[in-house]
Amino acid sequence: MEYRQLGNSGVRVSVIGMGTNRFGNKVEQAEVNNVIDTAVDLGVNFIDTADVYADNQSEVTLGHALKGRWDKFVLATKVYFKTGDGPNDYGASRYHIMNGVEASLRRLQSDHIDLYQMHRWDPLTPIEETMRTLDDLVRSGKVRYIGASAYAAWQLAQANLLAEMRGWSRFVTVQSHYHMLEREVEKEVIPYCQAENIGFIPYFPLAGGFLTGKYTREEGAPEGSRGESSQYVQQYMTDANYTRVEKLTTWAENRERTMAELAIAWLLAQPQVCSVISGLTRLEHLQQNAKAADWQLTAVEVNQVNDILAD
Ligand SMILES: NC(=O)c1ccc[n+]([C@@H]2O[C@H](COP(=O)([O-])OP(=O)(O)OC[C@H]3O[C@@H](n4cnc5c(N)ncnc54)[C@H](OP(=O)(O)O)[C@@H]3O)[C@@H](O)[C@H]2O)c1
Repeated sequence: MEYRQLGNSGVRVSVIGMGTNRFGNKVEQAEVNNVIDTAVDLGVNFIDTADVYADNQSEVTLGHALKGRWDKFVLATKVYFKTGDGPNDYGASRYHIMNGVEASLRRLQSDHIDLYQMHRWDPLTPIEETMRTLDDLVRSGKVRYIGASAYAAWQLAQANLLAEMRGWSRFVTVQSHYHMLEREVEKEVIPYCQAENIGFIPYFPLAGGFLTGKYTREEGAPEGSRGESSQYVQQYMTDANYTRVEKLTTWAENRERTMAELAIAWLLAQPQVCSVISGLTRLEHLQQNAKAADWQLTAVEVNQVNDILAD
């Protein structure tokens, strides 16, 4: 397994990470335990979850599975989205973050969170309040590093510059929507990350499964796959995208690789990407996706893939 620095922090994460938004509903506790056992064997140490995934059950199942082996993992969770019906049960206020961190720690059965991420920018809370609160959590030891999710480049710049001026902790990572068919972040966010050495964590790296190549023009979504019901996946099921995936699958197979491996390796070839947190609903997905870890695309190969994507 290859490890990369988590942005400009000293901690190292595996290039293959795990997205766990299906843990606790589609993936039950026994399977989560198996996945964590296998992750240890494969050297996969980076786990991404959030307080709201699977109605809190993603954190609960991880809490059980990680007991006694927290030192083998770097766990990232998030706060911001609605966790209750009260007027303060969402957002980036000191009130909600402080309540949120305690609730996550209880569910995770831990005394700390390795990477605590603001799930979204909050237009109603002054960024000074958010950053001061996050710094307090780092100083208290409850949180080790902080990150952002789906922030614009200007929001990251404002937050980190303020933190730097005050001597507070800065965001070491940003997590945003990024894969072969969704490249908006290449315009502003990734250049900002390059300038400041912020780690970039792509979310939906497989376009919800579409980039595994298991969706076909003839058959559509396979039985039991997310694309049967998810509009997010269905938006990619166009003729042009099927043509791209068919060509890319052939390109990968000529190198004895799969389409999913190519989607992951292509992300790992982009600047600042530290870990690819593909989601999984089966143990085999982790085993298959982990094979991308040793595939370093050359600059020429990345250009060939980009040419196919541009068609
Ligand atoms: N920060 C944010 O706002 C945000 C937003 C979204 C996601 N995320 C994070 O990003 C992670 C990844 O996103 P995601 O899971 O939604 O999407 P994804 O990684 O693009 O797609 C994962 C899905 O693809 C299918 N799959 C994965 N590997 C496969 C393989 N080898 N063969 C066949 N099918 C395979 C599985 O779905 P099926 O088995 O159902 O087909 C799996 O659930 C999440 O778990 C979460 O941690 C963060």
